[in-house]
Amino acid sequence: MSDATSQFRIHPLPDISFGGIVEFPGNADTEAAIAAAEAAPAALLKAFYDAHGLLILKGMHAISDQPELLVRLSRLFGPEVEDYRQTVTSRNNIHADVPEILVVSNVPPATPRVPERPDPPLTADGKLPVQFPHRRGWHTDQSYRRPPPDISLFYADLPTPKGQGQTLYADGIGAYAALPAAMKERIANLEGIHAQPGRRRSEQAVRAGETPDPLTPREAPQRQPVVRIHPVTSEPALYLCESGQMDWVDGPFVGMQPGPDGDGARLLYELMSHYTSPRFAYAHDWDRGDLVIYDNRSTIHSATWFDADTHRRRMWRTTVHGNPGAQFAGERKSWLAA
Ligand SMILES: [Fe+2]
Repeated sequence: MSDATSQFRIHPLPDISFGGIVEFPGNADTEAAIAAAEAAPAALLKAFYDAHGLLILKGMHAISDQPELLVRLSRLFGPEVEDYRQTVTSRNNIHADVPEILVVSNVPPATPRVPERPDPPLTADGKLPVQFPHRRGWHTDQSYRRPPPDISLFYADLPTPKGQGQTLYADGIGAYAALPAAMKERIANLEGIHAQPGRRRSEQAVRAGETPDPLTPREAPQRQPVVRIHPVTSEPALYLCESGQMDWVDGPFVGMQPGPDGDGARLLYELMSHYTSPRFAYAHDWDRGDLVIYDNRSTIHSATWFDADTHRRRMWRTTVHGNPGAQFAGERKSWLAA
């Protein structure tokens, strides 16, 4: 345990290259915990970046009754908390009272999104699969936009029982640092092409010969640096998604052979398999009231399967924008452009 401040302590996640659990003194309730964070925002942010952008807060139950508390806490992490009414988000997935909250749920009226089960469901040694391509769905939020977002806060209002419906996180700073020098050189100036899921530009859609959906300019796939320099710490991190959130029509990489069988595909598989190695990946089994804060500039994540016929799951997410770094200096928002 290390003293981050008198307001809270950070317990590093064991046996993994990143992440920490925030402990507030005594049995601080949610509002007291948020007040403590507001009293020492610089310390909380330092702890967040020291942990390569992954912090876990337990027992934040009051957010369920006062969802605006989640927005209040989000404001400590950046200048702009996204208002989902201004983006291309279905009203059914926006919180009825707080438009800064995206509802990720299989409870109506939200549009259910249940990840597929890996095949086989467990690894050879009986563990939850985390590594791509056995595990699919790895992405960083909204990477199909420029500038992409900074940080997401993800709250369990109604999680599934443990052992399913986990969220996996991987450490892009640790994964980049562990790359061989020749690979770092190879990708130094490379750009990936990121596309919004469900627009028939995924690896699977291209393999199936589907015709890509027509896209307006604000929906166009976006180029992103493969090596992203963190605007606060200057640390380089891998910035990539896998098959569902890359563009397999023109990409996945600018200037490399496109499509699922090209040189670009081979490189993406190699990089994503490395990025999601168990030594860089953490599986979060949710308790009700958990809040996970993750940095989209330096981590990726993936949701796991749950039994949606038996269990109701309702998670709330806010997204913080405004500090994408010098690689995006002065850019207008691609998803709001004409
Ligand atoms: Fe996500």
